[in-house]
Amino acid sequence: MLFKNHMNINNINKKYLDEVLEQKKTDFLYHFGISSTDSIIKDLKDLKAIVLTGSGLRSKRMAKTWAKQNNIKEILSFPKKERFLTYYVGNTLFSSHGMGMPSMSIALEELMKLCYFVKKGNTQEIDKIFWARVGTSGGLVEAGSIVISTEGLCANFKPYNLFILGKNYTFNSFFPSKTIKEIFKANKDLCFNIIEGKTIGANTFYLEQSRTDGALNLFGAEEKQKWLKKAEKLGVKNIEMEAPMMAGLLNHWGFSNFTDICCVLVNRLNTDQVNLSKKQLERFSIDAELVLFNYLKKLIP
Ligand code: URA
Repeated sequence: MLFKNHMNINNINKKYLDEVLEQKKTDFLYHFGISSTDSIIKDLKDLKAIVLTGSGLRSKRMAKTWAKQNNIKEILSFPKKERFLTYYVGNTLFSSHGMGMPSMSIALEELMKLCYFVKKGNTQEIDKIFWARVGTSGGLVEAGSIVISTEGLCANFKPYNLFILGKNYTFNSFFPSKTIKEIFKANKDLCFNIIEGKTIGANTFYLEQSRTDGALNLFGAEEKQKWLKKAEKLGVKNIEMEAPMMAGLLNHWGFSNFTDICCVLVNRLNTDQVNLSKKQLERFSIDAELVLFNYLKKLIP
C-alpha cells in the first residue's frame, strides 16, 4: 500500500539532525538522559506510538497496563528520572511531560528528535508514529466526562503562538479529525460520556484559567463567568495546560496522527475547586486511559 508522506520537510531541522545521523555530531537528549549514540536508539527501532502524561506515576502505570495487556514481562526504563519518567514496552513509549506548555515543549522537541534518530530520518516512517497525551482538565461539562480535543486554544482563544527571534509566530493548533473519528469508533461500547471539543491550554492553573480561588486578586466572579461563557460559546469543552502547544509543534513537522484525551475533574461553570475523592480521581483518570488503550489496541494489535 502506498503511504502518503504528510511531513513538512522544510520545518524539520534536517541539517542538524542529519549531521547527527551521519555521526558528525552527537546530540544529547539532556532531559531524558540519553544521547544519539546510545544503544537505546536501536532498542526503539519498532516504535509505533508515544503516549505522554503529566505525571510520572501515570506514565509508569500506563506502561505496566500496556505490558500486561500484551503479555510482556520486561519494560525498558530511561536512565534519567529527575524531569520525565519514560518507559518503552510493546512498541510504545510512555513518558511524563510535567505540567504546562514550557515543560511539555522540552519533552516534545527531544522526543521528536528521538523519532528522527530511531527512524533514521525516514519521514514516511516518522509520520507513522502516533502521539497521544492523556491528561486531566477542568471543563465546561460535568466532571467525569472525557474530552477529545479538536483544537487547542490559548487563554485569549487564539491558536498557539511563540515569540521566535522576538517576533510573534502562530502555529496550527488543530488536532487531526481522522484520529478523533477512529478513537470514537474504538470506544463505541463504553458507557461514560466521551465528547469532542476545543481545549484551552492555559499558561497557569489559576490566573489564566480565570480562577477566583488563587492567591492573586486580579478579577472577580462576574468577569470569570464572562470568560467561561465566551469559551463555551466558541465550542470549548475543557481547560488544561498543554493542548495548543502539543498540536502546534506536531503540526509543524506534519505528523498526521495525534490526540489529546482528558478527563474533566471539575465543571468550571459551577466551581473552581478540584475536590474529588481519591477514588473518583482514579476512576476518571483510568477512564481516559481506557479510551486511549482501546484505540492503541486497534493501532498496535
Ligand atoms: N488541570 C487543569 O489544568 N485545570 C483544571 O481545572 C484541572 C486539571
